[in-house]
Amino acid sequence: MLVSVIGTGYVGLVTGATLSDAGHKVTCLDIIESKINDLNDGKSPIFEPGLEDLIKSGIKNKTLSGSTDIENCIRESDVTFICVGTPSNKDGSIDLSYIKSASSSIGRALRHKEDEHTVIVKSTVVPLTTEETVLPIILKKSGWKREKLGIGMNPEFLREGCAVKDAKNPDRIVIGCGDEISKQVMNQLYEEHKCTKLECSPRTAEFIKYASNSFLATKISFVNEMANMCNEWGIDFIEVAEGMGLDSRISPLFLRAGAGFGGSCFPKDVKALAASAKSSKVESKILEAALTVNDSQPHIVVDMAKERLGILKGKKVTVLGLAFKPDTDDVRESRSEIVIQRLIKEGAIVTAHDPEAMNNFKEIIDIEMQPTPEEALADADCLILMTEWKEYIDLDYNLIKQKMSGNVVIDGRRAFDYRRMEEVGFDYKTIGLG
Ligand code: UGA
Repeated sequence: MLVSVIGTGYVGLVTGATLSDAGHKVTCLDIIESKINDLNDGKSPIFEPGLEDLIKSGIKNKTLSGSTDIENCIRESDVTFICVGTPSNKDGSIDLSYIKSASSSIGRALRHKEDEHTVIVKSTVVPLTTEETVLPIILKKSGWKREKLGIGMNPEFLREGCAVKDAKNPDRIVIGCGDEISKQVMNQLYEEHKCTKLECSPRTAEFIKYASNSFLATKISFVNEMANMCNEWGIDFIEVAEGMGLDSRISPLFLRAGAGFGGSCFPKDVKALAASAKSSKVESKILEAALTVNDSQPHIVVDMAKERLGILKGKKVTVLGLAFKPDTDDVRESRSEIVIQRLIKEGAIVTAHDPEAMNNFKEIIDIEMQPTPEEALADADCLILMTEWKEYIDLDYNLIKQKMSGNVVIDGRRAFDYRRMEEVGFDYKTIGLG
């Protein structure tokens, strides 16, 4: 199939590269020329394990290419995926401006097309967007009759850091089809996948995505609240999580307590769903609570450091980990940002390290960063672990103890081996260990 993909962010690139790998001929479209040039040179504009290899082989086999000639490429394809960003407005509600402009481009492109065309929304959009925003814009701009157009919504469930693996081995594919054309196209595109394919309406597909992300975010806030209780009652939350996870209805996944959830999806999506519910006059008390707990977790981490150091003013605090989770350079909504802002506000001298995310983080807060964790820890009074990169877990505890001038370790991700930490002489504190 001839596929065009609008938007070369993380969703667009992974979608385009995996569809080209499955044998479709894909053109990735963007207005940013430098991104398209990188793509055509076989370079991935984002850090995502396995993506660059896929892009390189697609370019080599001529099944993948990039272009800024958006309308012509849409017209020449059979199906267009909308993969543009859906950022938040100031009040947390969804900003659909990129969705609207992509829909307009599609409409203009189709004005001069004879054959059928299918449009699939992959961007995360609040319920009703595909039917009530995307479809009317395309029909108006193209002058097409509804019967000629296939319109569908096909959410992505990719995790950053393993997005290529997730795209190649999904546990389910949600086919939100607004008509027979889009149903057939999506079934054909995903023919090779043997997982469950759930066919539903576009609005149901849109809501499945939000309900899934909101459930996972709420699960994290729930375990964080339980872990905060463990701190007071001398209980180890890891053991509690193990006991809970043995119940197959709960599952052992997403039971890691700590500094809270970040990234480009959970915080934004929970806020957008809460805002949509509010505008439809539906209460969303659980979503609000999940966000409130998440806002307080980074402050609990700083409070733990303050309690041990007495005062933060003038103390050297080293933050290890700036990315919102390991194996990504993404710092959007990273909990480290909140921790570092508060440390600076209270007068601490902050240094930091991250294996991949230092450049991106510098654009948010320009703090001192060192090329290795050991150098960042030199003469530090306190270490705060914020991202559980493997290289931090594998640090030589004796060596870092020698480098530091103090002995306080606050583990915002419950990732260090606390028994060994204590053996080496660290004053170790974490969320969920009383
Ligand atoms: C999330 C979802 O997991 C994907 O299914 C979804 O497709 C994606 O959002 C999206 O909407 O595009 P992602 O944001 O890449 O994926 O990251 P996760 O691995 O889910 O982690 C999110 C945050 O939760 C991280 O800050 C992580 O540290 C935190 N987390 C995760 C916990 O604090 N505890 C846990 O047990 C798990």
